Amino acid sequence: MEEGAPDQIFRRVMSAFATGVTVVSATGAGGRMAGITVNSLTSVSLNPRLLLWCLGDQSERYDFFAAAETWGVTMLGAADEAQARRFARAESEAIEPSEAEMFANVPVLQTGVAHIACRTHDRRQAGDHLLIIGEVLDLKVKPGPALTFFRGSYGRADDPREPSGS
Ligand SMILES: Cc1cc2nc3c(=O)[nH]c(=O)nc-3n(C[C@H](O)[C@H](O)[C@H](O)COP(=O)(O)O)c2cc1C
Repeated sequence: MEEGAPDQIFRRVMSAFATGVTVVSATGAGGRMAGITVNSLTSVSLNPRLLLWCLGDQSERYDFFAAAETWGVTMLGAADEAQARRFARAESEAIEPSEAEMFANVPVLQTGVAHIACRTHDRRQAGDHLLIIGEVLDLKVKPGPALTFFRGSYGRADDPREPSGS
């Protein structure tokens, strides 16, 4: 039996589920662009193409992302750990125009190994998170190793289609 408070055990167990790391990005009032580090991304449906991510209701960025009608996802590459750390903090959430690119009219980071532009399809409250379900507007993928998150630490997954890595 795992030891600790029930929510500590839950965190510890869920952190054994190795994930990729993404930055969800959107444009707010006055054209301000912001991002948040997210690893709760999951695909939901192929037809129609839907995916979801979960937004914590204690986030300082809750109102910004809960209200976004369109948003982008950048799946970070192995070299993008600094971006993951930066967008996990509200004080460095701003995305400068020079580091963004517009994809289906949605801002994404220029870095990363894949990008998805989404329109919000549905929102569902679930406990202390908001499930934000997005319909895919456009998507693209690039070669290269991915950034991973496992047991609270960043790592990398090499691209199996490029055995030498990059
Ligand atoms: C690897 C990683 C994954 C994260 N995934 C999520 C997530 O899926 N949903 C979420 O709301 N916050 C997630 N966070 C936390 C946010 O990035 C952010 O740190 C948190 O919302 C607190 O900052 P804020 O109050 O300024 O938003 C993640 C953080 C890290 C480092």
